[in-house]
Amino acid sequence: MIQTIPKFRKSLLSWYDEEQRSLPWRTTPNLYRTIVSEFMLQQTQVKTALPYFDQWMSRFPDFHTLAKADIEIVLKHWEGLGYYNRARNLHKLANQIIGLERLPNNPEEWKMLPGIGDYTASAIASIAQNFPSAVVDGNVVRVLARISNEKRRFSSNRQAVEFFRASAESIVDPERPGDTNQAMMELGATVCIKAATNCTICPVQSFCSAYKSGEPKALPNIVRPKRTKVFINRAILIRENTILLHKNPSNARRLSDHYELPNLDAFE
Ligand code: ADE
Repeated sequence: MIQTIPKFRKSLLSWYDEEQRSLPWRTTPNLYRTIVSEFMLQQTQVKTALPYFDQWMSRFPDFHTLAKADIEIVLKHWEGLGYYNRARNLHKLANQIIGLERLPNNPEEWKMLPGIGDYTASAIASIAQNFPSAVVDGNVVRVLARISNEKRRFSSNRQAVEFFRASAESIVDPERPGDTNQAMMELGATVCIKAATNCTICPVQSFCSAYKSGEPKALPNIVRPKRTKVFINRAILIRENTILLHKNPSNARRLSDHYELPNLDAFE
């Protein structure tokens, strides 16, 4: 796709070296910090995750402390980030890791642990262990779709991720895999953004086909099927200044374990 990959990597990585945001998991990295940050960033933006990350590190500074903590306390520290399964999985993962004789050292092995899919496995292995494997998230898809001026229509993020995986792999610098991945994510999050394009300050503008001949803002072309709306009636029950909440029992990813107003159906 990109004819001159070594030059592309050089431009991307020099920009990242100069312009990367100073983030706590980058300034003092270790395996635990990489794993916690990648779990937080699975469904949460960097700026939202930042205060949670610092608080988390003060309370659970390493795998051992996290593994030994009560799950209710762990969930409490996740409160506000949503998708509580991530916290449950992180807790399970810490317990498994402290029992292992040898750490996983490639994405396939990482994927055997709780809460770790393709994306997080490649992020951990490349950032913390220098393993050459591409991270492909929505930001990376956007950058690659624009660079290649790929106009085909995708019906989901997942489909687009699979489509661009091979080109993302070809870009990963074997000497600096974690930095290449973080640089691609960083470019998508700060320069090659969804709502606009900042092509004048883009370090890889000269490699970008959409910039030359197309309409970068229109890419990637992802058209998702319409979602069905669900309406729920909820009860507000107040007694002695206390509002009744219950813990969502469903396994739905976003809401499981979430404290919420009871659903009226619960009283039928
Ligand atoms: N999103 C997920 N992981 C990230 C990282 N390491 N840097 C920037 N954005 C990310």
